[in-house]
Amino acid sequence: MVAAGFPLALVVTGVALPAWAWLIPLLILVVAYPRRGWSDAPLFPTPHDALRALPAVVPLREQAHVLDAGCGVGDGLMALRRAYPAVQLHGIEYSPILWLLARLRCAWAKVTRGDLWSQSWRDFDMVYLFQRPESMLRALDKALAEMPGDRWLVSLDFPLPGQAVHAQLETGSRHRLHVYRIQDLRRAGRERKNAQAFGGPVDKG
Ligand SMILES: C[S@@+](CC[C@H](N)C(=O)[O-])C[C@H]1O[C@@H](n2cnc3c(N)ncnc32)[C@H](O)[C@@H]1O
Repeated sequence: MVAAGFPLALVVTGVALPAWAWLIPLLILVVAYPRRGWSDAPLFPTPHDALRALPAVVPLREQAHVLDAGCGVGDGLMALRRAYPAVQLHGIEYSPILWLLARLRCAWAKVTRGDLWSQSWRDFDMVYLFQRPESMLRALDKALAEMPGDRWLVSLDFPLPGQAVHAQLETGSRHRLHVYRIQDLRRAGRERKNAQAFGGPVDKG
């Protein structure tokens, strides 16, 4: 906004514009980011090659179902497609404009508009997230409540708080991937509970 918006505003002030015209960028912002959309991450696209190393750690069968939860304009879906050309890709996005762009850019994926927290993750073999640190505890709870043990949760940049990773992958950019298997997360949770119940040391993973 500052880098592009301010110089643009300076240029445009030289042009005779009606006062209401300044509401247009505000309107675009409101449509792109409805009020509820601010509660999780804003748009930052996944670099297209960032997920290339993932199949070596998370091998998925053909036609496996993979969800990009909060798919933005589809860059995460494109990166997933590069990594897993044979899986079925799904995306969900809250912002109507971003959802529309993702649909247009990723016609081969099933992109729905909605809140990522209201959609069940039960039927997905892998859920990919690029959200923000504050969303990760909620993501952990949701994955544990809904996903079968042999499924995967993958997060770009933001780890699940207090959880041991299955793998951490460099992406060839400043981003890092955190890979979790649901059954490992469940087992670690049970072990922690047992350790607490019997007063033993608690391994925070
Ligand atoms: C950091 S961007 C990642 C976009 C995409 N996953 C990618 O990697 O290229 C986060 C996206 O999640 C969307 N988002 C945030 N909260 C959401 C929610 N509760 N439901 C659906 N989408 C959400 C934002 O609008 C934004 O497009």
